[in-house]
Amino acid sequence: MNLSNTPKIKIALLPGDGIGPEVTEQAIKVMDAVAERYDQHFKYCHADVGAIAIDRHGSPLPEETLEACLNADAIFFGAIGHPKYDNDPSAKVRPEQGLLQLRKSLGLYANIRPVTTYEKLLHLSPLREDRIKGTDMVIFRELTGGIYFGEKGTAKDGQSAFDTCSYRVDEIDRITRLAFEQAMLRRKKVTLVDKANVLETSRLWRSAVKGIAQEYPEVELDFMFVDNAAMQLIQYPSQFDVILTSNMFGDILSDEASVLAGSMGLLPSASVGLHTSMFEPIHGSFPQATGQDIANPMAAILSAAMLLESLELHEAAQSIRTTVQYVLEKGIGTPELKPNIVYGCSKIGDLIAHLVADPEEEILVREDKANQQMSTII
Ligand code: IPM
Ligand code: MG
Repeated sequence: MNLSNTPKIKIALLPGDGIGPEVTEQAIKVMDAVAERYDQHFKYCHADVGAIAIDRHGSPLPEETLEACLNADAIFFGAIGHPKYDNDPSAKVRPEQGLLQLRKSLGLYANIRPVTTYEKLLHLSPLREDRIKGTDMVIFRELTGGIYFGEKGTAKDGQSAFDTCSYRVDEIDRITRLAFEQAMLRRKKVTLVDKANVLETSRLWRSAVKGIAQEYPEVELDFMFVDNAAMQLIQYPSQFDVILTSNMFGDILSDEASVLAGSMGLLPSASVGLHTSMFEPIHGSFPQATGQDIANPMAAILSAAMLLESLELHEAAQSIRTTVQYVLEKGIGTPELKPNIVYGCSKIGDLIAHLVADPEEEILVREDKANQQMSTII
């Protein structure tokens, strides 16, 4: 029990669907370890979102869930989606609507996805090691505007449909500022990805971004068409520092970038904006793995680190990142990483929580010759 007088930090927990609940559970273990070691007090509030919320309340984003999010200091989100909706274009309510409504209602206009590589896992990348080596970028994707939220419709005769992409300068300016602020803390380079040779909205992005760039003379700004960016990401990914882009291009490129590191199970994300910020692993609900204790909880745990960072708990966040790296370096991981020592989802959560609570602890790896296996002692 935490008896300290530190103010309570309210965290809304939205585990969602599929493997969401199991990876969320591991993130909670680690946040509890942080609470203990850094004398913090987290108060969790569980709420339903996605397919599970449709089943229980008839809506992918029930009123109580939105309320819990608005009342929280931060939101932790697991995963969303269920196969029963994927192949049914006629479904009236879909789990994903919960996520889109949440983004809109909370004004989460920037989705931030760091793509980090780990030396030990370079061989898992679909790219050759010499190409992926040194890759370290962060994507700033606009999240509440553009074609996702523009006017849309289908003609009465069902023979045509349309989706509109529109942007206002103020929508571009606010995410651009965040991207440049981040660049100042990194390698001071921003690449605006667009389709300015064709799209009017892209030309508006260019002029607005150039305007903001003047406030950051130390940051180098360059421009890249989205088709070229898709190519450059796999040819020469280490050239990117901060990528800034609109909603739809960001959706596509961030998935492309996410596989470069070797496993989607390692990448966290943050969505920030007008109200409470939200943190979530970038992977989906992975229905095939649900309940099997094989999902990689590291993306969720690293999302918890981003959450703590946003609450200015920098040391705690750093200790989580260092611990994840340490565990990977020891050759321990979930099955998809093909590590020397295979741990399940829950055991990885226990291990990381244990090491965060007590950083003096070390992992000893021993070889069990008789069974030709590696094992650990902590
Ligand atoms: C994402 C997802 C969502 C999106 C879906 C689930 C609506 O792909 O977070 O990138 O397209 O934004
Ligand atoms: Mg996506």
